[in-house]
Amino acid sequence: MGASGKTGRRVVRLLEAQGAPVRPASRSSRVRFDWTEPGTWADAVHGARAVYLVAPEDPAPIREFVAKADGVQRFVVLSGRGIDQASPGFGEGMIAAEQAARESGAEWTILRANNFNQNFDEDLWHAPLRAGRLALPIGATPEPFVDVEDLAEVAVAALTGDGHAGRVYELSGPRGLTFGEAVEIIARAADRPIVYEELTPERYREELLAEGYPEVVADSLNTLFALHREGHLAEPADGVRQVLGRDPIAFEDYATRVAATGAWS
Ligand SMILES: NC(=O)c1ccc[n+]([C@@H]2O[C@H](COP(=O)([O-])OP(=O)(O)OC[C@H]3O[C@@H](n4cnc5c(N)ncnc54)[C@H](OP(=O)(O)O)[C@@H]3O)[C@@H](O)[C@H]2O)c1
Repeated sequence: MGASGKTGRRVVRLLEAQGAPVRPASRSSRVRFDWTEPGTWADAVHGARAVYLVAPEDPAPIREFVAKADGVQRFVVLSGRGIDQASPGFGEGMIAAEQAARESGAEWTILRANNFNQNFDEDLWHAPLRAGRLALPIGATPEPFVDVEDLAEVAVAALTGDGHAGRVYELSGPRGLTFGEAVEIIARAADRPIVYEELTPERYREELLAEGYPEVVADSLNTLFALHREGHLAEPADGVRQVLGRDPIAFEDYATRVAATGAWS
């Protein structure tokens, strides 16, 4: 699932490289899968042995989807670190996906990830970085960002290998960085000035609304950063090493690799 997204795209690519039969599923895939259209579910999972489950934000359809996917023998669920400590209303889709997989009767593996490196070049923080200023209400709490290349490799191991059933893997990068440090590393790799600015949650909300984000997104992002400021996600975790037997990709290596593509120029 999420086959055109940051993690799913790489999971598909790795499975294809192994010669594993893989059916990409999302609204834009050849076999269309839409969480909001139950009529699309059966074709997407028909004959599938294992599902990489990328939850929608709305938890409502997840239990029914998992119940209907009765031929599926294994679920590998993408989730977030600290999801148990999150405030009510945040991450409900991921919480419901974890629960549905655990109760499915099939094998399950849960991947609880820190913030992705790729948020800086394929998602929310890309445009601000290109504009030369990333401004967030995060404080000095470090974040051990995880590279999605590592996450995808772990997901493929769990989808195709043995010994991962019933496991919850906490996935992070090798060390915590403040957002200020992360932006400095990116600026150095991109060889141009980019500043990090600390905002109050109120000011951040105002900026998001001014940029056209809906209130629900602004509030959800503020909840996410409140969770970060509490420091629950600050310590590196060893899930990448447990599964892949090697250290996770360093943020500096990610920044060098992506800067070479001109993504932040
Ligand atoms: N970003 C982070 O730092 C982070 C950290 C931990 C966990 N997570 C979790 O990761 C998940 C997102 O995964 P990602 O970053 O790999 O994806 P992504 O880059 O956000 O892309 C979303 C994917 O979901 C598909 N999609 C969107 N709406 C859909 C719908 N109604 N039905 C079916 N598919 C739909 C999209 O494809 P189409 O447009 O083709 O449908 C796309 O492939 C979220 O649950 C998030 O909470 C993110």
